[in-house]
Amino acid sequence: MQETKELKEIFIIEGGIPLEGKVQISGAKNSALPNMVASILTDEPVILENVPDLLDTRNMIEILNKIGISSHFEDGKLSLVFNKAPNPETDYKLVQKMRASILVLGALTARFGYAKVYMPGGCSIGYRPVDLHINALEKMGAKIEIDHGYITAKAPNGLKGTIIDFPKKTVTGTENIMMAATLAKGKTVIKNAAKEPEVVDLANLLIKMGAKISGAGTDTIIIEGVNKLQSARHTIIPDRIEAGTFVILSALTGGRIYIENYPKKYLTYFEKTLEEIGISVVPVNNKTVIVRRERDLKPTYVETREYPYFPTDLQAQMMVLLCFANGVSKIKENIFENRFMHVPELKRMGAKIDVDTKNQIATINKIDKLQGAIVKATDLRASAAMVIAGLVAEGTTVIEDIYHLRRGYENIESKLKNLGAKIKTEYKEN
Ligand code: EPZ
Repeated sequence: MQETKELKEIFIIEGGIPLEGKVQISGAKNSALPNMVASILTDEPVILENVPDLLDTRNMIEILNKIGISSHFEDGKLSLVFNKAPNPETDYKLVQKMRASILVLGALTARFGYAKVYMPGGCSIGYRPVDLHINALEKMGAKIEIDHGYITAKAPNGLKGTIIDFPKKTVTGTENIMMAATLAKGKTVIKNAAKEPEVVDLANLLIKMGAKISGAGTDTIIIEGVNKLQSARHTIIPDRIEAGTFVILSALTGGRIYIENYPKKYLTYFEKTLEEIGISVVPVNNKTVIVRRERDLKPTYVETREYPYFPTDLQAQMMVLLCFANGVSKIKENIFENRFMHVPELKRMGAKIDVDTKNQIATINKIDKLQGAIVKATDLRASAAMVIAGLVAEGTTVIEDIYHLRRGYENIESKLKNLGAKIKTEYKEN
């Protein structure tokens, strides 16, 4: 019997075509995911608007359905209500696809005094431990065991508020503890909290649900526990990483793209870095921008750091841009230990990049052009960088493992085609 071969989705891109037209930035994946998890904290409906339709958001819906939450998702509007018997567990299959599933740990433990979550694995950008999440929940009184790959948390008498001082900033760690603290007894103070806009967006939803939270967006977040949370409606903020990706794409492909729903206030440091290179993001109205650039781009030194500094999720895309700067640029990756997987793929296209692995510094030398080649997408944001590279390269580029892109960029193909890109999907046997 002919065994069924697994088919892998690939992109085929014709490079060198100037792009022009309009693109709408979608809702932020990294805000939608924790906001969806907040529906665990109440038995009343939580209605989210501007939710991007992605593999990751659909994965999270499946995880929440298995926990006992009913959902309806249409045209970016996601209604969630916890109206079935609770099953405070997640299974391997779903967690393995998406690390952010760790976000249910805090909410389930706070609401039911019990959670069993499969330990998320590492991924191509790093080991991605969750020790900070676990240590913080233990400090709030949860008994945690790791057994056969599962994290089991027990808090039969509920969680208690305490001071959590994170040794390093963790985005989902801050979000996990903030959600757990909303139903804990007493006050929780999160020190060295992550300040990303997505953390603030989650806090805004929780406050609408009746949580008592202050300081979100600063280094210290204070949460006063309450007995119950209520129904709320909330619109997810635009995705600053998708927005930055299209700014870089516009700068490299003719600069005639109107970027709508552009969250300028979240991209201050990113835009400052672009100014150093000779690129400016020019507002057309209060939600739309275009990108202007000098003919000769200047080299620069970029360090990825926690918000509000240069985001690690735009590092790979920036690297493609710096290949065309007049001189030698450097990028230091401070957040993840292995986030240069796109370098060998770009070198296959003619990029001249050297990596000092020990210090996680990439040195990018100027090239005149990239050449189309067969390349791999290695992680979600690097896959966007490879699409940018393919669109500016000379000739045809085939990008394999496009699955990564589907995780975080809503309708990416139609958005690019609407700008004039020659891009098509094919399926090849694995
Ligand atoms: C969030 O991941 C984002 N994901 C990531 O986006 C983003 O790259 C990252 O923050 C940094 O901004 C979501 O929000 C769903 P961290 P997260 O905890 O929370 C270490 C994308 O492409 N750490 O802030 O997992 C960790 O290894 C993704 O959308 C521990 O050591 O990142 C890293 O070096 C990729 N122990 C650093 O802290 C822990 O318990 C920052 O990680 C937790 C984290």
